[in-house]
Amino acid sequence: MKTLVVAQQKGGVGKTSSIVHLAFDFLERGLRVAVIDLDTQGNASFTLHDFNSEYTASQLFDQNGDDLRQWFHGLPEGPLMRLIGSDAVLANMEKRNLTDAAVAFKDNITALADSGFDVVLIDTAPALGISLASALYAADSVISPIELEAYSIQGIKKMLTTIANVRKLNTKLKFLGMVPSKVDARNPRHRRHQEELQAAYPQLMIPGGIGLRSSIADALSSRVPVWKIKKTAARKATLEMRALAAYIYEKMEITP
Ligand SMILES: Nc1ncnc2c1ncn2[C@@H]1O[C@H](COP(=O)(O)OP(=O)(O)OP(=O)(O)O)[C@@H](O)[C@H]1O
Ligand SMILES: [Mg+2]
Repeated sequence: MKTLVVAQQKGGVGKTSSIVHLAFDFLERGLRVAVIDLDTQGNASFTLHDFNSEYTASQLFDQNGDDLRQWFHGLPEGPLMRLIGSDAVLANMEKRNLTDAAVAFKDNITALADSGFDVVLIDTAPALGISLASALYAADSVISPIELEAYSIQGIKKMLTTIANVRKLNTKLKFLGMVPSKVDARNPRHRRHQEELQAAYPQLMIPGGIGLRSSIADALSSRVPVWKIKKTAARKATLEMRALAAYIYEKMEITP
């Protein structure tokens, strides 16, 4: 089983949008997908409402893996998706001890592997806190969507430092890179920022990126992937999301 975290302390940059589309794409590839929503905003939980397992994200910090193994015991065979949704108790995470939280969370990721999932996708809140650190400590891969705006770019160094620090403890963690998000190709500022980022971090930019496309917002609010939106305008968004999913699928080396 492989585990991916989407991380970026800047809000509204496309973290949830990416994780939800990866989940739908991986399910269609025939994988057994678990999605964990660690954000109290509960946006991924809203869009993936139909897949709710009723096991809650805070339980991953409060209970050991045996509880989870019991809950997911006897899942049907074949491709499936289960959401471990955001809940109110997550709001108290920052009062906890990091080591305790990280150890409990990691135990539960192992329990998800034991329960027969192929991949775990973790959505996180726009903050560098205990829950993000715990997720990174347990994960194999991390991606960071980034908007091509100054405020977003200013935060990158902090994000990269956080990831580098966790990698000292979790040496298997791979930073797959940054995903340019909500890109307006006709906006000269976006083009300039994309060129600057490419020059500064040539190894860290995921090829392609996701355009600024309202069909993606339509899809998230309709609880479907953008390829289910029947508008001509959804075609480009579909191609971009599918390309991102294919890239990440390959880099994560997921084996069903
Ligand atoms: N490529 C896109 N084009 C247009 N709108 C988008 C795109 N991606 C996401 N959005 C919209 O932008 C908003 C923020 O996206 P999203 O929720 O994915 O970001 P986020 O990084 O998860 O935000 P937060 O940090 O608050 O969790 C949402 O309303 C979403 O519908
Ligand atoms: Mg989000």
